[in-house]
Amino acid sequence: MHVQSMIMNKLLSTCPLYSPPLSVFSFSLPLFLPVCLCQAADLTIERNPVVKPKPDPSTLVFGKQFSDHMLTISWSAAGGWEAPQIKPFQNLSLHPASSALHYSIELFEGMKAFRGVDNHIRLFRPMLNMERMYRSTERSCLPLFDKVELIKCINKLIEVDQEWVPYSTDASLYIRPTFIGTEPSLGVSRTGHSLLFVIIGPVGPYFATGGFSPVSLLADPRYVRAWRGGVGEYKMGGNYGPTIAVQSEAAKQGCQQVLWLYGENEEITEVGTMNLFIYWTTEKGEKELVTPPLDGIILPGVTRQSLLDLAREWGDFKVTERRVLMKELIDALDDGRILEVFGSGTACVVCPVGSLLYRGQTYQIPTMKNGPEIAKRFHKELTDIQYGRTQRDWAPVIV
Ligand SMILES: Cc1ncc(COP(=O)(O)O)c(C=O)c1O
Repeated sequence: MHVQSMIMNKLLSTCPLYSPPLSVFSFSLPLFLPVCLCQAADLTIERNPVVKPKPDPSTLVFGKQFSDHMLTISWSAAGGWEAPQIKPFQNLSLHPASSALHYSIELFEGMKAFRGVDNHIRLFRPMLNMERMYRSTERSCLPLFDKVELIKCINKLIEVDQEWVPYSTDASLYIRPTFIGTEPSLGVSRTGHSLLFVIIGPVGPYFATGGFSPVSLLADPRYVRAWRGGVGEYKMGGNYGPTIAVQSEAAKQGCQQVLWLYGENEEITEVGTMNLFIYWTTEKGEKELVTPPLDGIILPGVTRQSLLDLAREWGDFKVTERRVLMKELIDALDDGRILEVFGSGTACVVCPVGSLLYRGQTYQIPTMKNGPEIAKRFHKELTDIQYGRTQRDWAPVIV
């Protein structure tokens, strides 16, 4: 064996983060040495001399307010991971040929920090976000990072900007880890330069009224969000941009969100940027909570996983992950077997569905009439954990 590949195999076999086969890489040895690095211990902090006033939590609009600092970690094939930096929030300077801008070599995460009733700041199952980000990174051919080291850097950023975590159990701090290819070249190839950065900002309650407001859905089989063999299960920017036109079409037709269908049989997949749950009485008369399975076209939501975990712990009804067809939903609505339909996601925890426009017909969904008993129970259990009213290892204290 060539001496270089022997050394490389030795190095990679001791690297717990390395998983793809060597053959997928076109780089030679020196480019791979830094694959495991991204060390929180090397973090440097440059404090922002100008601290902005914090907004009133009741006036917050999602994604428009940012804290005083950001985290950046640069990588290049030649030099590996640079030391992570926390620095004043600022614009990025990018080469106009950067691969993120041309070929969507971009991925992101969405997670939150909560100020609990005890004034401690908690994250919610952050390693699930790190694992999802890692999978998106592999699929994007961006350099692999150490998940534990990255969350340590994010925790530090939140500690530095801790006053930005709203003093409210109706608001939270949104965390947006982002990873982009910055290769200054128009070749469609694996990027040799990249930038991982994290920005954070306070967000208010999803439902401004405080209670649940049900959303209306457009289900139009002409539009598809993701397909088998594609990248729907990864959180890549390229999955989201093309949905905006469909979302606008839904708005034109008086609907708030899109129910994404897939294939000739019109499988129900997701709703807007949420996973979908149906709580119904089956044809056999059993109460069942059903959600589409993680079979490649659905984003594996952290909230989805948490609702499934809770429901299985409760053991009060059947819990099933399986493909559900539009026809089954319509038949169940016609038979009066639907109890609740709701989306799940970091933004809202759970979001009830009130109506569905499908092939020119509007169907009323009785989610609100039925409480919504299950949706409310999930909402309470999860927010109790997030705001420290219930202690659980899902919500590690970071400050
Ligand atoms: C397409 C899509 N589905 C589902 C979700 C819900 O995922 P999570 O519960 O991790 O927020 C999101 C939000 O990230 C999403 O973008």
